[in-house]
Amino acid sequence: MGFAALTDSYPWDAIAPYAERARRHPQGAVDLSVGTPVDPTPAVVQEALIAAADAPGYPTTHGTADVRETVAGWFARRRGVVGLDPQAVLPTVGSKEAVALLPSLVGAGPGDVVVHPEIAYPTYDVGARLAGATPLATDEVAQWESRSDVKLVWLNSPANPHGAVRSVEELAKVVAAARRVGAVVVSDECYAELAWEDPYRTGGVPSLLDPRVSGGSHEGLLVAYSLSKQSNLAGYRAAFLAGDPALVADLVRLRRHMGMIVPAPVQAAMVAALSDDAHVSAQRERYGARRRILVEGVTAAGLVIDHSEAGLYLWVRPEGPAQDCWHTVADLADLGILVGPGAFYGPAGSGHVRMALTATDERVAQAAARLQGA
Ligand SMILES: Cc1ncc(COP(=O)(O)O)c(C=O)c1O
Repeated sequence: MGFAALTDSYPWDAIAPYAERARRHPQGAVDLSVGTPVDPTPAVVQEALIAAADAPGYPTTHGTADVRETVAGWFARRRGVVGLDPQAVLPTVGSKEAVALLPSLVGAGPGDVVVHPEIAYPTYDVGARLAGATPLATDEVAQWESRSDVKLVWLNSPANPHGAVRSVEELAKVVAAARRVGAVVVSDECYAELAWEDPYRTGGVPSLLDPRVSGGSHEGLLVAYSLSKQSNLAGYRAAFLAGDPALVADLVRLRRHMGMIVPAPVQAAMVAALSDDAHVSAQRERYGARRRILVEGVTAAGLVIDHSEAGLYLWVRPEGPAQDCWHTVADLADLGILVGPGAFYGPAGSGHVRMALTATDERVAQAAARLQGA
């Protein structure tokens, strides 16, 4: 896919015929194809947004001091990252735009390589191409550690679509190699609060900025984080980047030129969301319950779940010989269940489908019952 292909196709349009097929089920479709939250935005967050509705002036691109200090406090409280400089925090308009723009904003261009996970959220590839750089899809450090043209290395832990989590040791290995070749490492950690299996459920998902990973210096490192999933806030577009103070200062200057600013009421809502851990754990419980029900249904149907130890998805394939994901998408559509084809995340994903936990309890129970009867 070259740059032109980005403008004339959007992969998700390809599942429309299967959505149609799933809708024919007498009890209606269960849409597990996208990870869009369906539970209410917490009242504490809505109230903060409303209280900040009078906003005649331009908001600050760098974010209010309140936002930046709250993010630093969240990292210390929830992610084991103490002492993050609030100056090294930058709110973004959701994290998708940040993912798409970062290669350009760190100066990657023709002749540069942007590394991203082999099976990955497609926007890493899109962002590399928008910058004119070359994407390299690999999980193997050995594939790039002796190159001189690597400008940026993406990590995504817990990963979309398959839910694998990177250990402290794995993250540290990437950081060491990237520092040797002079590349920036950006870790997209937007599912960090949704860990289902140990050691991550009890011990937390390690952050790139964790001192055991960074060695105590955030130089060349950034974390992208989003409130969309943990706080049912996808409609607000609330996210942030944090890490290297010098990199963040450059990004702030560039984004001021671009007018890439988070609206003031959303900045206020971010402060409320990141200051309240109770709604995040309530949401985790909800997803955990849905996950248990769906896992039972999927297993009863003779399907196999790989990875999926964290995040909002089950990474599923039929037992036995590999089957092309589009066949599985079709089989599930006949049960009225719409899922995402693994091929959307790279050729290595083409034997799997992705099932999201983002449906109501009623729809998830329906899906499980249909799978159990299959
Ligand atoms: C890995 C990953 N990064 C980023 C995003 C974008 O999230 P948002 O733009 O809502 O912050 C998503 C959304 O599904 C995602 O899965």
